[in-house]
Amino acid sequence: MATEMALVKPISKFSCSTPIFSSSRYGKFTTVRMSSTSQPSPTTKTAGKKASKTAIKETLLTPRFYTTDFDEMETLFNTEINRNLNQSEFEALLQEFKTDYNQTHFVRNKEFKEAADKIDGPLRQIFVEFLERSCTAEFSGFLLYKELGRRLKKTNPVVAEIFSLMSRDEARHAGFLNKGLSDFNLALDLGFLTKARKYTFFKPKFIFYATYLSEKIGYWRYITIYRHLKENPEYQCYPIFKYFENWCQDENRHGDFFSALMKAQPQFLNDWKAKLWSRFFCLSVYVTMYLNDCQRTAFYEGIGLNTKEFDMHVIIETNRTTARIFPAVLDVENPEFKRRLDKMVEINEQLVAVGETDDIPLVKNLKRIPLIAALASELLATYLMPPIESGSVDFAEFEPQLVY
Ligand SMILES: [Fe+2]
Ligand SMILES: [Fe+2]
Repeated sequence: MATEMALVKPISKFSCSTPIFSSSRYGKFTTVRMSSTSQPSPTTKTAGKKASKTAIKETLLTPRFYTTDFDEMETLFNTEINRNLNQSEFEALLQEFKTDYNQTHFVRNKEFKEAADKIDGPLRQIFVEFLERSCTAEFSGFLLYKELGRRLKKTNPVVAEIFSLMSRDEARHAGFLNKGLSDFNLALDLGFLTKARKYTFFKPKFIFYATYLSEKIGYWRYITIYRHLKENPEYQCYPIFKYFENWCQDENRHGDFFSALMKAQPQFLNDWKAKLWSRFFCLSVYVTMYLNDCQRTAFYEGIGLNTKEFDMHVIIETNRTTARIFPAVLDVENPEFKRRLDKMVEINEQLVAVGETDDIPLVKNLKRIPLIAALASELLATYLMPPIESGSVDFAEFEPQLVY
C-alpha cells in the first residue's frame, strides 16, 4: 500500500516482532511516535541525545490504519461457498509473488546519508514528513495483509499465502522508508504506532475498493516520480527515488491481486450499489491525495514537479486503470472535476488557517461550520457529476454463476 486515504476511512496494523522495525536498531536517533490524538504525545526517546518532543500531528488527512470483519472475509474466500473463486488464477498469482522479484532490490548505500546531510532548510522538514507519511501508509498495508494472511490460512491457504507475501513486500517498503528516516537521525516507532493508533473498521467490500485504489494510485505516484527524476536528474536530491521503478511493480502486483479478488466477488461489482460505492471511493482517494499534496507543494516543487499537474496525471492514470475493474468511475478528465478539486483546496486552506489562529476552540468551531458545509457541498457536487460507466466485460459471465 502506498498512499493514504483518510476522508472516508483508515488502514491496518502489525506486531512489531520483526527486527527491522525495532527502535533499538536506531541507537542514537530520535524515535518519532504518532499519537492517535492531535495532542503532543510523550513521544520521543533517545539514547545519548536530548530528545525533542516530536509527535506527528494527526488530522483528517493523516494516513490511517484499517481493520475489517475477518469472519466475513473467511466466508468470502471459502471455496466451498464461493464457486467463483478461480483457484488456478490465484495459484498463478501466488507463483508470481513467490518469485519475489525485489528480494535483493532494497539495498542501501552510502549515498543516502550523504544526500540527506545536504538537504537543509525547510526542504529537510518536508522530506522527513514525506518519509514518515509514506512509511506509515506502507506499514498500514503490512498490518492489514499480515492479519488477513493469518486469518485466511485455514479457509483458503493460497489466498492467505498471497496476503502474507504482500505483507512481506509492505514490510520491506516501510522498513526501507524508516531507514531513510535514520539518514535524518529519526525513526518511526512502529511498535508504538501499532498499539497506539486507532484502527478504522471497513467491511470487506470497502477494504477491496479502498485497497485496490490505494495500490494503483501508489503505483502511479511512484512511477511518475521515478520517470520525472530520470528525465530531470538535477532534482534527484535523495536516492530513495531511484528505487521507485521496481518498488512500484510491487504495488502494481498488489493491485492486480485485489482486482482478481473482486472478480471473484462479482456481487461487489455488478449492481447499482457497487457503482455508487465505486464512485465514492474514487472520490475519497483522489480528493484526499489532492488536498494532502496541495498542503505540501514545497515537497513536490523541491523535486521539480508541479504539484497539481503531478496529481492530475496520477488521478487520470489511476482512474483509467480502475475503469478496467470498477463498474463506474468519475469523469476526472472533465475540466469541471479539476475546477472543483481546486475549489476544495481553497476551502481546505481556509480551514487550516482557522486552526492556526489564536481564537478559542468555540470560535474556531463556529468559523469552521460554513467552510465544512462548503467543502461538503463541493464533494457532493463532484460526486454527482455524470460518471463513466466502466468495468470488465467478463462480469456478465459471472452473474449467473453467483453461488450463495
Ligand atoms: Fe508498498
Ligand atoms: Fe502495496
